[in-house]
Amino acid sequence: MLIKTQSNSQSNPAIRSSEITDESVYLQRRQLIKTMGFLGAGALIGSTVSKTANAGFFDSKDNDSNNFKTTPLKFTADKDNLSLIKTPEQKVISHNNFYEFGAQKHQPAELAQNFNVDPWQLTISGECDNPITLDYDDLTTMFPLEERIYRLRCVEAWSMVIPWVGFSLANLLKKVAPNSSAKYVVFETLHDPKQMPGQDDRRLGGGINYPYVEALRLDEAMNPLTLMSVGLYGKTLPPQNGAPIRLVVPWKYGFKSVKSIVSIKLVSKQPATTWQKLAASEYGFYANVNPNHDHPRWSQASERRITSGGLFARNRIETLPFNGYGEQVAHMYKDMDLSKYY
Ligand code: MTE
Repeated sequence: MLIKTQSNSQSNPAIRSSEITDESVYLQRRQLIKTMGFLGAGALIGSTVSKTANAGFFDSKDNDSNNFKTTPLKFTADKDNLSLIKTPEQKVISHNNFYEFGAQKHQPAELAQNFNVDPWQLTISGECDNPITLDYDDLTTMFPLEERIYRLRCVEAWSMVIPWVGFSLANLLKKVAPNSSAKYVVFETLHDPKQMPGQDDRRLGGGINYPYVEALRLDEAMNPLTLMSVGLYGKTLPPQNGAPIRLVVPWKYGFKSVKSIVSIKLVSKQPATTWQKLAASEYGFYANVNPNHDHPRWSQASERRITSGGLFARNRIETLPFNGYGEQVAHMYKDMDLSKYY
């Protein structure tokens, strides 16, 4: 997602063998190459391609070492989206972007297992009449929890379908009563380099200046689809997915869905956000999923849906405007030039 290297800027990211081959077959091939002793070739691929858009396809592997304790949650089931084929839980919790725990897809599941989420404090403050601070227990008890089965589209052109559990951000914001100066909502991830090794190791953490910050316009934050997630697959979130609480904005690229949030602040001006600061021409503030606006280094017209795979799985699919949620969200952008406000 992040780092430009000579090799990836020269190659054609539209044609990768990982994109025309099912992931499981592809990974078997990689394993075969390694087993045959072509470690040089493997390392070369790793050192160049792991810095490109689809890095995940090269380093993703199921990780069975989850020892973080998750707890079952009580929630209302999502009956409206049962037709979506969910990404298997094991993939959801082992193929992650959480640069605080490493920029490779398998690293968060490996390096976040001892992450301490209780006690936790989430402060909601800024331009509002009733600022509040929530403790760990409040996160799962303050509002009735509901399941939302959403598509997640990463800017790197892979996607998943994930059954989240959480509550509408709108409910939380109504509690603090935004005042008339509140125009944007800023979210900040915990900054704790002792627990998050990527935060003071620039190589591990992908060169980001932490804490990770993301933001939404107030109307986007109040949209009924915008979810504060405290769980997935019926249980509290594993650390690699953003425990104990994260944002999920299903019509935007995944990088807007900030993890392990400690602060939500209402502000009057559009703030600078992590990826925008890093590469504004590549990652815009809005980041609405848009198949007609390519990333400078790769196409956004299609995506690789991460499924259970299988030898004949055909999981490259067309990307939909607003990730298929246009009916619920397109009205918020009706007067905007989306190629300018990408
Ligand atoms: N939040 C923080 N704090 N740090 C991150 O590196 N990565 C983002 C987003 N939230 C990220 C983050 C990106 S790029 C994506 S695609 C999603 O988390 C991935 O969520 P998942 O790992 O639960 O699938």
